[in-house]
Amino acid sequence: MLTLPFRRWFLPLTLAVVATIGLVALASVWPFAWFLAAVAAALVMLGVYDIVQPGHSVLRNYPIAAHLRFLLEAIRPEIRQYFLEDDTQGTPFARRQRAVVYQRAKGQLDKVPFGTQLEVYDPAFEWLNHSIAAKQPASEPFRVRIGGPFCLKPYDASVFNISAMSFGALSANAIRALNKGARMGGFAHDTGEGGLSPYHREHGGDLIFEIGSGYFSCRDADGRFSAERFAALAALDQVKMIEIKISQGAKPGHGGVLPGAKVSPEIAATRGVTVGVDCISPPCHGAFSTPIEMMHFIALLRRLSGGKPVGFKLCIGQPWEFLAMCKAMLVTGIAPDFIVVDGTEGGTGAAPLEFVDHIGMPLRDGLSFVHNALVGIGLRDRIRIGAAGKITSAFDIARTMAIGAD
Ligand SMILES: Cc1cc2nc3c(=O)[nH]c(=O)nc-3n(C[C@H](O)[C@H](O)[C@H](O)COP(=O)(O)O)c2cc1C
Repeated sequence: MLTLPFRRWFLPLTLAVVATIGLVALASVWPFAWFLAAVAAALVMLGVYDIVQPGHSVLRNYPIAAHLRFLLEAIRPEIRQYFLEDDTQGTPFARRQRAVVYQRAKGQLDKVPFGTQLEVYDPAFEWLNHSIAAKQPASEPFRVRIGGPFCLKPYDASVFNISAMSFGALSANAIRALNKGARMGGFAHDTGEGGLSPYHREHGGDLIFEIGSGYFSCRDADGRFSAERFAALAALDQVKMIEIKISQGAKPGHGGVLPGAKVSPEIAATRGVTVGVDCISPPCHGAFSTPIEMMHFIALLRRLSGGKPVGFKLCIGQPWEFLAMCKAMLVTGIAPDFIVVDGTEGGTGAAPLEFVDHIGMPLRDGLSFVHNALVGIGLRDRIRIGAAGKITSAFDIARTMAIGAD
């Protein structure tokens, strides 16, 4: 069976080769055909170059559309440097921020000349207060120690990390690239709930092993949590922390399905499921069903992992449900080492539109609530808070920390 990218370039390239040969044959009776043959041969060479070049996967996957895109980009008006013309969502401030992030990602100039050019009385205009007593930039990287009193192997995490995205939702190459980036930048790379694959391990970047309701990579034949399998993976030196996924912002409470057609032998081997059969993440966990049971599960994972930091990720829904977890922490004396708050605005591999747009608290509200609840029960100093949801710039990181994230 032809793979998708192969099908996309096979026809145009074959046509170009056939045209070249045909035009060369025609040239003996029609000399102008030499010129057309040269054009067709140039297209063949361009096609071969697109396939073998390692720089732009978009050229390999969508060769014709990609050339059109690069052409339009090359001739676009200069104004696009500061505002993406096809981006009309949100305030001018948000649009300019997105444009700067886009330019940075492309290695282009990310400085904006002439200072603030926006309406400062726009309700969405945000700022941080600077200090007159400015300091030299710190020379050492910012790191945050994660690990409460019952954690034997605390982890010093970067303030900037790679949030959970599963192997299955992402390809092997994407996982490799993220983990290599994590190693180079000193970040932690969250595996996502799709299990811990060989691709997560190739480059040796720090890992947060996420386990969701499907217990992928640590499940028994019936899909239940397997302590033995979990312990074997959690013992890897590369695994620095364990994260229980309760929910994610874009589809809280939804669970998920990886369609059977996408369950390849390597995805099946990583997850511990059957090739070609729909791979289901149930909407809720089977290993615990009450806040108190959840705290005991946290203690179990901490023990099985040899004392690594254990936390959980959620998007806040009903506030009293999180308060019930806080109460369970006080009743059992067991607390997570960290909590990741995801906003409803967070990304996803796939989710129904209604969930993406309308379910769960946005990050700022959820984060502020979690921070305040932990302060209120007196556990804020031993539980670190992470955050995710449209955090794309250093300003976003600073603002999120000001609201309560570590
Ligand atoms: C392709 C993709 C796959 C994801 N897979 C998971 C996952 O397996 N587990 C999880 O907790 N969150 C998952 N997420 C959500 C992210 O971890 C994160 O919470 C969200 O993307 C943050 O929002 P942002 O994309 O606006 O930064 C996924 C997101 C994307 C885009």
